[in-house]
Amino acid sequence: MEIIIAETTEEMSRLAADIVERQLLRKPNSVLGLATGSTPMGLYKELVRRHQQQGLDFSKVISFNLDEYLDLSPTHPQSYRYFMDQQLFNHVNIDPRNTHVPYGHVAEVEEYCAWYEEEIKRVGGIDLQVLGIGADGHIAFNEPGSSLGSRTRLKTLTQQTIEDNSRFFDDPDQVPRFAITMGVGTILETREILLLANGAKKADVVAQALEGPITAQITASALQMHRHVTVIVDSAAGSKLKRADYYRWVHQEKKRLIPRLIGRVT
Ligand code: GLP
Repeated sequence: MEIIIAETTEEMSRLAADIVERQLLRKPNSVLGLATGSTPMGLYKELVRRHQQQGLDFSKVISFNLDEYLDLSPTHPQSYRYFMDQQLFNHVNIDPRNTHVPYGHVAEVEEYCAWYEEEIKRVGGIDLQVLGIGADGHIAFNEPGSSLGSRTRLKTLTQQTIEDNSRFFDDPDQVPRFAITMGVGTILETREILLLANGAKKADVVAQALEGPITAQITASALQMHRHVTVIVDSAAGSKLKRADYYRWVHQEKKRLIPRLIGRVT
């Protein structure tokens, strides 16, 4: 695991965009795993800028999003499909038919989740997975107690997540209680992971997830078992990391001696 402590959220987003860009240059038909939430918004903005100003090409990219609220239609402004269209898909040359966000209005949830997993496999698996982290340590909507081997399925959200996400809804009662989410096991099967976190509110949980024990109570801690994870945090989110000085030193040395390997050697 490589941990990069950026000075600012903007730097975090730029460094993250470098990793996504490098992936697309290396493999134009990459399969990207994408996340929602406020954390990756700067990354998407930077990718849109690079597409518009530098021609970063998404024409062959296939994407799979982590999760979606149950029973929200794709046109609902708080649905994750709507978020992705607004933040990224509508502004780059990705083929909309190649974008997958779980469909919240589905009748047969179990069959649908199995199909979602099969689709990921059918295109050869996810090359690079972008992740945020919830205040309770969740990745996607894998709330505390989720099996670390879990697959795409229906999850009930915790009250904390419902409260955290209520800021986007007019009325807290409108926040859905259920979501379809990739499992921790699904995420661990991706070839490479890019975890982002910003802001002081994430500092405690980032330290627990990266430096604490692996536990289903903090599902992001399962990333410690993955072979290729790059974590980029801003200085506020990284402020509780015990080995922050070491991570900073590693990054400086890499920048100085082998910049092409930032995000590559784990
Ligand atoms: C939601 C999403 C997660 C995301 C988390 C953090 O719960 N399902 O994928 O990481 O929010 O959101 P934010 O980035 O807004 O803090």
